[in-house]
Amino acid sequence: MDSQRLGNELKKILPPGRVLTSSLERKMYSYDSSFHARFRSFVPDAVTLPRSTAEVAEIMRFASNNNIPVVPRGAGSGETCGCLAVRGGIVLDLSGWDTIEEVDAANMQVIVRPGVVHYILNEHLAGFGLFFPPDPGSTRMCTIGGMVANNSSGLRAVKYGTTEQYVLGLEVVLPDGRVITTGGTNCRALKNVSGLNLTKLFVGSEGTLGVITRIRLRVWPRPRARGIVMAVFGSLDEAPAAVLDVYQSGILPSGIEILDSSAIQAVNMYKPEINLPAAEAILLFEVDGNPAGVEWEGQKIVEITGKRALSVEWATDSQRMADLWRGRGVVAVAAARLRPDGSRIFAGEDISVPLSRVTEALRRIKELGREFGVAVVNYGHIGDGNVHTAPVINLENSDEVARANGLVDAIHRLAIELHGSTTGEHGVGAVRNQYALAEHGEAVNVMKRLKETLDPGNIMNPGKLLPPGEE
Ligand code: LAC
Ligand code: ZN
Repeated sequence: MDSQRLGNELKKILPPGRVLTSSLERKMYSYDSSFHARFRSFVPDAVTLPRSTAEVAEIMRFASNNNIPVVPRGAGSGETCGCLAVRGGIVLDLSGWDTIEEVDAANMQVIVRPGVVHYILNEHLAGFGLFFPPDPGSTRMCTIGGMVANNSSGLRAVKYGTTEQYVLGLEVVLPDGRVITTGGTNCRALKNVSGLNLTKLFVGSEGTLGVITRIRLRVWPRPRARGIVMAVFGSLDEAPAAVLDVYQSGILPSGIEILDSSAIQAVNMYKPEINLPAAEAILLFEVDGNPAGVEWEGQKIVEITGKRALSVEWATDSQRMADLWRGRGVVAVAAARLRPDGSRIFAGEDISVPLSRVTEALRRIKELGREFGVAVVNYGHIGDGNVHTAPVINLENSDEVARANGLVDAIHRLAIELHGSTTGEHGVGAVRNQYALAEHGEAVNVMKRLKETLDPGNIMNPGKLLPPGEE
């Protein structure tokens, strides 16, 4: 069906202003934040902006009757082409459907529509003394629907876990237009072990099984105090060892981040006033909780890391904490400063390895960077073995682009070799699906059967998650 005709059909379902068909409008939906989207253009045939479950259901019925692919989309901050229409079809832009329907404070939960921005939700919850703990770096733009679809996490997963731990139930429109509620149709309980756990099936399914239209999230009491320890190391190997020392002392920080020498250099080039000490590695520990506990844990971390570090600082003053945290905050952008013609690419950046292999992973990634002749900046969530590698290349140089692709592939393979995963938080999309068999073996066939059962026409976000050509 050509774009014009498709648009006309969709305008029978939605008001004309919420169906986009001009080539310029459609082009706006042809990319996400990934490296791959720069080189390939995935322009959808039409874009729709649904604002109710009934509208989504009607679009799905129409799409399944006509065998048209449908791709749900949030803010487009993803890094694996997950929300791109790689086989054309209809994009469902859910980002404007951003109602916080209910804060059920008495039951420690909140009900939202998929387009609510993470930061807005937490601002709202603060008024109730509550918060939703997972915190991806993209808090000011990413949507809760996108976070659920990708099982996002980020800076606080080390203590609070990933999004899946908070999803109590979902309303999902299936590819044929049926609407189901997982976690119990009218349930407001915090625990529920009745039935197969369909909520978990949809969390992290990246839009391949249905459209998430309503989310029931568990929320937590907002911690009353917070503090940050910055520890500076003269050798890279001391940093992961210090993380294990802290765990062994019985402390579970709310964040443990690493910046290696390349990240320290990039931050200092980008914002000289941050002035991080030149060293092999810096660890930032965040602790939160009640004031007395935070103080005790902070001092203990200072004592423990001090045995390995060149210097250690403990801060609870909000200005000083912001200063210490700032280097981590800007590193993703700062990476590009490593060279004047450089761009930081998002392509091989979130492997996850067992804690006992983190040192090896960091060393090998550095070696691979040298082998492929690509500058890399390493940082990330070392507390759960999820390290970010930012390759920095000149995008105009096709040889460098090819070498970057080789490097990224090698990093993904390294993750599997070290008994880890190709992706700890950014997902599979159309980029990591080539590693699905290596990572999951026979389990891939079960995933395929589940997909066929729920989506026999393969219209839900096709070309993602499962091995290329097999989905
Ligand atoms: C971060 C993103 C890149 O942690 O996952 O900064
Ligand atoms: Zn991250």
